[in-house]
Amino acid sequence: MTPIWLENSDALSRRAADHVAALLADKPDAVIAVPTGATPLGLYRRLIALHDSGTFDSQRARFFNLDEFVGKPADDPRSYGHFLWQHLFRPLKIQPHQVRLLRGDAADPDAECLAFERAIEDVGGLDLAILGLGRNGHIAFNEPGSDWSAGTRQVALTEKTRAAQAVLYPDPAEVPAAGLTMGVATIKRAKAILLLVAGDGKDEAVAALLRGIPDQNWPVTALLDHPNVTFIADRHVRQRH
Ligand code: GLP
Repeated sequence: MTPIWLENSDALSRRAADHVAALLADKPDAVIAVPTGATPLGLYRRLIALHDSGTFDSQRARFFNLDEFVGKPADDPRSYGHFLWQHLFRPLKIQPHQVRLLRGDAADPDAECLAFERAIEDVGGLDLAILGLGRNGHIAFNEPGSDWSAGTRQVALTEKTRAAQAVLYPDPAEVPAAGLTMGVATIKRAKAILLLVAGDGKDEAVAALLRGIPDQNWPVTALLDHPNVTFIADRHVRQRH
C-alpha cells in the first residue's frame, strides 16, 4: 500500500476533503462511514467550507459512525455521536434521517449491532469508509487480536485506548471499558476506504502497514488486500521513528 505523504496535517485535511467532496459531487446519495478523533477534524472543517461554497450538496448523503462507547447516548458530550453532530453533521446541514449512529446506550447491544449492520445493507452498503488509525493499529474499535471476519459488535477497549480518553473524565474509573464498533469485515465491504494518519505515536502502526504483511496484532493491516484504499499520511508520522 503506497501512502500519499503530505507536508502537514493541514495538507492532509485538504487532500482528504477534496476526495470526499469529489465523491459527493459525483454521487450525492453516497453512503459514508465517518470517524472521530483529532485526525479528521481538519477534514471536516475543510469539507464544510467546500459545502458552503457550493462544491457539493449534502442533502441526499447517508452517514454511519464507526464506533461508540458503551453506555454513552449521543447527547453525552463525550460520546462519538455528539462529536460527529458538532463537528460534521450540523455544520453540513445534515438531517437526522440521513444519519444512523451506533447507540452506545442501547438496552440490547447485540441487537443494536445487528440492526446497524442491516441499516448499512438497506442503503446498499458503504461507498466510502473514512478511517483514522489508533496508536496500537486499531481501526474503529477493532483492537489488536480482533477477528477480521467479525461484523459490528461490542468489544472490550484496551488500556491504551481507554488512556487516550482519560483526559475527558475526572475519575479514570469512569472511562468506558467497552465500545460498539463496526467490524473489520463491515469496513472491508466498503467500496472504497480513505485511511488518514496524523499525530504522535503512530509510526509503529504505519511501519506494520508498510511491511505489507497481514498481522492480527495490527488490525490496520487487514486493509492490505482491499482493492480500493487511499492512504494519506502526514509525513511527520514517518519522521518520528
Ligand atoms: C479512537 C477511535 C478511532 C480513531 C482513533 C485515532 O480510538 N475509536 O476510530 O481512529 O481514536 O484517533 P486520533 O485521530 O485522535 O489519533
